[in-house]
Formats: sequence, structure tokens, C-alpha cells
Amino acid sequence: MLTEQEQQAIGEELRHYPQPRAAVSEALKIVQRHRGWVSDESVRDIGAALDLTPAEVDSVATFYSMIFRRPVGRHVILICDSVSCWIMGANPLQAHLAATLGIQPGATTADGRFTLLPCACLGACDRAPALMIDDDLHVDLTLEKLGELLEKYA
Ligand code: FES
Repeated sequence: MLTEQEQQAIGEELRHYPQPRAAVSEALKIVQRHRGWVSDESVRDIGAALDLTPAEVDSVATFYSMIFRRPVGRHVILICDSVSCWIMGANPLQAHLAATLGIQPGATTADGRFTLLPCACLGACDRAPALMIDDDLHVDLTLEKLGELLEKYA
């Protein structure tokens, strides 16, 4: 069930759109901001609030890689694996991250601190390789920089 706070925030968004369905991505972001991810139950509740089927809501949720349909860690690392980053060494970086964290891409560390997710272009191709941790973009990455970077996220 959506909380009152979530319902209010979604209601506020609805005022900006001519059709309720146009607010679906905002509704998903609102729920994720409050809960960290978007469960099947939340997909159903958002659908009910916007007069959409769960499948319609889910099709939007699964289109956006930054909407998480499974529980994630306290910090989500999105590592770009598109072409510019790949050319500039994203693969060794991803392998190093996975080894350091002791998880495979797509997984969450046992302590719930990090989730590591490969993703498409982050729009920072001129400063590849790039990754995001939560809302922070990090560019011009090297193996050396990675260690320091993780320290900042407890
Ligand atoms: Fe990685 Fe664009 S290819 S940021």
C-alpha cells in the first residue's frame, strides 16, 4: 500500500500532467526514493493510483535501468559498459570492482552496502570510463581511484 506521503507526492505530480499515465515514471521514482526499490506490490499500487494495469506500470519500470525492481544495497554502483567506456577500460574496472566487493555484476554485497549494476551510457563519454554511485557521477576512472571512491560510501 502506498504511504500517505507517497500518495501526496504522486498526487502533486499528477497536477503537472494532462493524463495520469504520463506521471508513471515520476510515481516510480517517488516510491523508489521512499523505499529504495519498487516491489510488485508497489507496481500494483501505482497502477491503481494512475488507473493503469500492473503490466503497463512494469513496462515503464523495466525500461528505465535506474528503477530497481529488486532490493538493492545502501549504495548502487552503476558502471557504464557502453562503447566509449569499454574502449577506455571499463571491463578491467568492472572486474576489479566485482573482485573488491566479492560479488558478481547484478549482485549486492553480503553486508548490504553496495549493489553493482552494469548500465548503458551515462552521458559522460568524453570522460570515460565513468560510473555513478547513487546520484554522484564519477569520471576519468582508474583502478587507483576506485579504492578511494568506495571509501566515501559507508
Ligand atoms: Fe560510458 Fe558514454 S559510453 S558514459
